[in-house]
Amino acid sequence: MNKIVFFGGKGGVGKTTVSSAYASACAEKGERTLLVSTDPAHSLCDIFERTIGAKVTALGSNLDGLEIDPEEESQKYINAIKKNMKSIVSPVIVKEIEKQLDAAAVTPGSDESAVFDKLMEVLLELSGDYDRIVIDTAPTGHTVRLLSLPELMGGWMDRLIEKRKAAMALYEMANRDKRKMEELIMSDPVISTLSTRKAKMESARELLTDHEQVSFVFVLNPEKLPIEETKKAIQILAKYRIQVRDLVVNRILPEGLTDPFWNRRREIEKKYLEDIETVFAKQRRILIPLIETEVRAEDLGRIGAYFERL
Ligand SMILES: Nc1ncnc2c1ncn2[C@@H]1O[C@H](COP(=O)(O)OP(=O)(O)OP(=O)(O)O)[C@@H](O)[C@H]1O
Ligand SMILES: [Mg+2]
Repeated sequence: MNKIVFFGGKGGVGKTTVSSAYASACAEKGERTLLVSTDPAHSLCDIFERTIGAKVTALGSNLDGLEIDPEEESQKYINAIKKNMKSIVSPVIVKEIEKQLDAAAVTPGSDESAVFDKLMEVLLELSGDYDRIVIDTAPTGHTVRLLSLPELMGGWMDRLIEKRKAAMALYEMANRDKRKMEELIMSDPVISTLSTRKAKMESARELLTDHEQVSFVFVLNPEKLPIEETKKAIQILAKYRIQVRDLVVNRILPEGLTDPFWNRRREIEKKYLEDIETVFAKQRRILIPLIETEVRAEDLGRIGAYFERL
């Protein structure tokens, strides 16, 4: 696995458990490890039984944790834009824009883009301090949207920049001064804000598609729906040139069950395990059994051990 490892997958398949176990195993080996959660459900604090939050918090030797809160980030993000806007547009339209921004704050995608910004900031600022950064993401839909943002936003920002330039050109026609026009564009706060964001998105895209720095791992269970969802997610991400090379098949029924009920379940599972082998022949598969308890911090070693052979 690479230095930065994203764990994704359908709701409830074991992303938080498996990413925590993997991060703990890395820390155990002596790697300085940061475990980041971008899931609004904040389950890292449940496993490690302590509050983590927006500040880097020590979770153990060589292991730190950080939780990014989508709602809080979204609000910060919107507020920052509002502040920016005030200096660049007339007060008359500020009110209207604020209304639109507040509406935007509750539209799908706004939390993801705020989380994305924060995550990129974390990766850029903290990656020098760690040997390994492990990211526990929210269920598939959010994650796929999160990872496809740079591609989507890049084009969108290009169009905004073009629009702004066209608007300025109209305004400038009255003045008919070419050189002044160029100066205006260079010093325009809207264009410079958009260009900065665009540059950020481009470096994010470069990072996400850098197969030597970043790995994506999908967690799934040997069941119909997680298989379907994983298949779709891998296809979508491939369109954005993001490769998923590893899968964790989690909660496989253990050997040695003799009860007819469990035998029946085992047979169903066997079929899905075979499906996984054919459907995901290109991916490396890491198999983790169902353990007999709910996974707590002290059980992570047992799950982490399955990564040992990597
Ligand atoms: N191998 C395992 N053996 C036993 N229990 C497990 C295993 N993996 C996960 N669990 C349990 O399954 C439940 C869901 O796991 P987890 O919270 O890691 O999933 P998740 O994918 O992060 O969920 P969400 O999508 O809600 O964030 C937890 O109660 C966890 O203890
Ligand atoms: Mg989780």
